[in-house]
Amino acid sequence: MELNNKVAVVTGVSKGIGLALCQLLTNAGVKVYGLGRTQNSELHVPNFVFIQTDVRDYQSVVQAFEQIFQKENAIHILINNAGLGYFGNLEDIELAHWNEMMQTNVNGIFYCCKQVIPAMKQNGIGHIVNIASTAALEGMPQVSAYCASKWAVKGLSESLFRELRDFKIKVTCIYPGSTKTDFFRNSPGIQPHDYMLMPEDVALSIVQALQMPDNFHTVNLEIRPLQPKGPKK
Ligand SMILES: NC(=O)c1ccc[n+]([C@@H]2O[C@H](COP(=O)([O-])OP(=O)(O)OC[C@H]3O[C@@H](n4cnc5c(N)ncnc54)[C@H](OP(=O)(O)O)[C@@H]3O)[C@@H](O)[C@H]2O)c1
Repeated sequence: MELNNKVAVVTGVSKGIGLALCQLLTNAGVKVYGLGRTQNSELHVPNFVFIQTDVRDYQSVVQAFEQIFQKENAIHILINNAGLGYFGNLEDIELAHWNEMMQTNVNGIFYCCKQVIPAMKQNGIGHIVNIASTAALEGMPQVSAYCASKWAVKGLSESLFRELRDFKIKVTCIYPGSTKTDFFRNSPGIQPHDYMLMPEDVALSIVQALQMPDNFHTVNLEIRPLQPKGPKK
């Protein structure tokens, strides 16, 4: 898709991968609506609009999209990025944390997709990108709750791809390995470091998938740091 003058919605834009995506997309001439709980104080460009949204709250999501559709005839791109993880043995995961992960990582994607798909079908163009994780590809001890939420993202994405391809709507699921963001704040013991992926590079790989020709579709995009623990000594 040629990106200039297209309209995109990105969720979770205060920091990390979502913020990097907004920066790259606005630089490429995309009008970006950022849906999030918190606004980044440094992202001030005319083609970026922040809409206060909690993706766990269906009414909040509905209102955000109503606001966008009052101004735009089409949303060409939806990037479901908002997400978070809590780690630990399953029996120690707090109920509130389990619910927060499921509501954000899974329900949030459903709520946003539900708002854009009818208009994308009508317009015959669209690209939905869901950010899963390598935790959607393999089970990991102490990551069972987060894995459960991200495996749901994989299942939803692969099914939705088959559901929407004949409407000329692409669905891409991206599986990043460890990325140097604030994501690890809830996982004592893991410090972000320079051998992780950089959020700008994850964002670039998504933008490249968006830019591919209409009949080229990236279904699953697994990206990992080459040497996550640094060079072998
Ligand atoms: N970092 C990694 O190693 C890694 C690896 C694979 C996949 N991922 C996935 O990548 C995505 C982005 O994570 P990140 O690494 O960039 O983490 P991050 O720096 O913690 O950013 C997460 C973003 O999601 C937003 N968010 C969280 N809950 C929200 C809600 N209910 N409504 C709206 N926005 C909400 C946060 O906003 P607030 O500032 O308001 O909290 C923040 O902007 C997540 O889906 C994550 O699971 C991350």
